[in-house]
Amino acid sequence: MTATSDPAAGIAPTGRSTGRATGRPGARPAAPDDLRPLVAGLVGELAASAGPVETAITPPPACYTSPLFFEAERDAVFGRSWLYLCHVSELPAAGDHLAVTVAGEPLVVTRGEDDAIRVLSALCRHRSYPLVVEDGNSRQLRCPYHYWAYGLDGCLVAAPTMEPGHPLAELRRTANLPSFPVEIFHGFVFTHLGGLGSPDGPGSPGSEPPPLAPTLAALDAELAGYRTEDLVVGHRLTLPDLPWNWKNMLENALEAYHTSFLHAGYHDAAPARLVRFLGFDPATDGAILRHAGLVRPDGGFLTDDGTAAFPILPYLRDEQRGRILYTAVPPLMFASLKPDSAMIMRILPDAVDRMTLTVTWLFPPATVAAPTFAAAMARQLAFFDIVNGQDMAANERMYRGLRARGAVRGPYSPQEATLPQFNAWLLRQMTSWLADGQQNPADGHQGMDGAA
Ligand code: FES
Ligand SMILES: [Fe+2]
Repeated sequence: MTATSDPAAGIAPTGRSTGRATGRPGARPAAPDDLRPLVAGLVGELAASAGPVETAITPPPACYTSPLFFEAERDAVFGRSWLYLCHVSELPAAGDHLAVTVAGEPLVVTRGEDDAIRVLSALCRHRSYPLVVEDGNSRQLRCPYHYWAYGLDGCLVAAPTMEPGHPLAELRRTANLPSFPVEIFHGFVFTHLGGLGSPDGPGSPGSEPPPLAPTLAALDAELAGYRTEDLVVGHRLTLPDLPWNWKNMLENALEAYHTSFLHAGYHDAAPARLVRFLGFDPATDGAILRHAGLVRPDGGFLTDDGTAAFPILPYLRDEQRGRILYTAVPPLMFASLKPDSAMIMRILPDAVDRMTLTVTWLFPPATVAAPTFAAAMARQLAFFDIVNGQDMAANERMYRGLRARGAVRGPYSPQEATLPQFNAWLLRQMTSWLADGQQNPADGHQGMDGAA
């Protein structure tokens, strides 16, 4: 568990910067074209999960448990979506860097001397050693194996004992860390790994992904008032080695149905009967949204008595003071925006049956600086631990059920309307990936994992 309380020194400029290739990723094994026929049937079955909530049924259990389906997702989902990595306040100072591994792809987010936030491949260009496994601050990223070193912009700065065959000047032209596109949305840092499939690597012409922000227009309007770009980290908690599929985590966070039962007595401040669902079009929307009405305006959530644990955010509209905004920007981000704080979940898939969850609480700098903050955070965490513990146990048991030979596909409650919306998003990712393979099966597309 790590806690950060540094106020927002050196907040990044907002807006989009396109990552510039600083090095070729090099030749990779062929794309998972062989995988497409193996999962096409499963994707076809998923279609029954993506319709109206009244008629949709839950996805085939194999979508959660099949290693082949997960291999397909590594390309179709994690290789073709904007991926949430962190909030800008987690990198307040030049030299700060965060290690993030997405579905087996080691990345590092850096803040450079020029204040720019970059996302780099964290694989050493010598022999693919993962360069950065912990968060920290340094002027260089040095590989622990043979001490090749890179600047925070990914440029190679040292490669000991490689001469005379490989002078540093030559290596500096060919062995820099690839950088990926970065888009910062309301203070949240996203990247896109699509360039890994491009012959010339990330950031090269033709590998540039469509921009994120136009797909988040509905969320953009919802976030006004929370001013998340001005918030700072008050607490961060990482839970590794969680034994279930990443989609189980997102579904548990998205749906309201279970809150009346699994969390009976603990969720009364935001009861399921006050939930309101919003529309979602997978062709144009990158965020799934719902509102959870609070019994008490300006109330708290996940506190022992339903009162807010922290001061109310200062710029909220009246209606925002009476509800929680829940949103997912799949595949990696889930957020709950409350009257007194924001809580962000980053859902990192490690394998078909394994994931890492990071939970980050964001507040105005003055809230974190107040002498009462530590006690208030402890009060929040005590309650969070109970409710989150219920969710974690449920996810683990649910996953055991999905692996059973008798696992079923069932109908949805109206209080689960966000789940067919997520299924529709997943279906669109998978079908467009399948279609690309059919249009150009020999295009040399290379999956992010290089799996054949
Ligand atoms: S693998 Fe990094 S320096 Fe050799
Ligand atoms: Fe829950």
